[in-house]
Amino acid sequence: MAKNIKNKNIKKTKTEAPIVEALQNAYDKPSFQFHIPGHTRGGGVYKAFKNLIGSKALKVDTTDEFDNLGTLTPPTGAIAKAQELAAEAFGASRTFFLLNGSTIGNLALAMGITKKGQKIITNRNCHRSLLTGMIISGAEPVWLVPEKLEEWGLWGCIRPEKIEHLLKTTKNVGAVWITNPTYEGVISDIKSISEICKKHKVPLIVDEAHGSLWNFNNSFPTPALQLGADAVVQSLHKTGGSMSQSSMLHISKNSMLDVNKIERALKLLHTTSPSLILLASLDAARAHLSSEEGQKQIERTIKNAKYLRKRIDKMQNIQQLKADFGFKTDITKVFIKVDGLSGKRLESILEIDFNIEVESASDVGALMLVNLGNKRSEIKYLADCLEKITQTDYSDIYHLENKKHTPMLIPNIKYKLRDAFYMEKEIIKKSEAIGRISGEVIAECPPGIAILLPGELITEAHLPYLTDYEEIEVIKE
Ligand SMILES: Cc1ncc(COP(=O)(O)O)c(C=O)c1O
Repeated sequence: MAKNIKNKNIKKTKTEAPIVEALQNAYDKPSFQFHIPGHTRGGGVYKAFKNLIGSKALKVDTTDEFDNLGTLTPPTGAIAKAQELAAEAFGASRTFFLLNGSTIGNLALAMGITKKGQKIITNRNCHRSLLTGMIISGAEPVWLVPEKLEEWGLWGCIRPEKIEHLLKTTKNVGAVWITNPTYEGVISDIKSISEICKKHKVPLIVDEAHGSLWNFNNSFPTPALQLGADAVVQSLHKTGGSMSQSSMLHISKNSMLDVNKIERALKLLHTTSPSLILLASLDAARAHLSSEEGQKQIERTIKNAKYLRKRIDKMQNIQQLKADFGFKTDITKVFIKVDGLSGKRLESILEIDFNIEVESASDVGALMLVNLGNKRSEIKYLADCLEKITQTDYSDIYHLENKKHTPMLIPNIKYKLRDAFYMEKEIIKKSEAIGRISGEVIAECPPGIAILLPGELITEAHLPYLTDYEEIEVIKE
């Protein structure tokens, strides 16, 4: 086992992948199928699609219960075993495999452990899934406003003192629920935050959707599960190497949360036909990250990120978000801005002139992820292209748009979130919306941060974020 694994528990984890094995067995010894999915091992599928994804992928596209594959709810067989191995690898007491991303993990946490009228201390730049969860449960967000990095158009870290202050001044707090890292890789001091939460006997939930690699190399920040968080969601599909929409929810060993309530909520929210391909990809991702080969890939990823950052440092007219702004960052998330170009213009130059797709772009800058699967030659190509861009006189057309992308607004709340969501509403022209109260969640992805939530006053400050909207749903007067 490679030396650099941070979580000691992982040393005991065998590099085995029970769902992958069970699926291989089902493929090797096919049964006569008279059950869902109705394409029956690819027999009933549009030919061009079959050619595109390959007939093998369709042969293993099945759901739980069949062919000794086990069940997701309740966890049995290979699926149960795979979840246990994941819990061991991540240092959790229980790990739940999630289909529908970390979104469903956040929904299940909100539905399972928060109650109507309870206050949940959360950062304004949280993902909209937490808020959907609170609309379901009736808990109410108490907004924590992180630092603002104005010149980057981004949210910075959450200062522990702010959490302490809110815990001292708020009654009926059900949980502190924070995002770490941010989408762009900014990191908060989870250790101090968790100590404060423990002192106040309030559970800490960390949305670590963008930190699923952290458990597997010491160069990354320490994962929240090792720093006292009670529950953590991780989008393995974002950076951990599993397939799109597959994620994990981990419950810590000394969690204050009632795991049965979370499991029951998950049962209600999950599909009743889980994709074995997606479940196997979670099993495979955990096995891979724990293996010698996976460890080498993580090392390579970190070296690639260092290389890219070094190259950018040498370029004129280009800056990158780094750990020297008073907080730490995740080295693999490279947010840059180029003098004279908006992030959107940079994104389109990279796409049109160089065939490069970045993770996202805002009015200010662009975010690039250095991932497990990226080769050094690709990173070098990206660095060369950025160099060319900084040496070329590109004009910017996007500034005419006057559109802002990352919402950094402090809300003016008129009604409680859930009450407002269920009030009678009407759709009006955007030009008539100022002074009215929003009836909808407006939180574009990425990054899924709220511009407006039900019950919040619409003001002039919202307009630069709403340039794509012609109409807005508001509470009926
Ligand atoms: C901080 C955060 N949490 C949760 C999610 C939801 O994750 P998923 O796409 O896996 O449902 C996202 C998605 O971008 C996110 O940025």
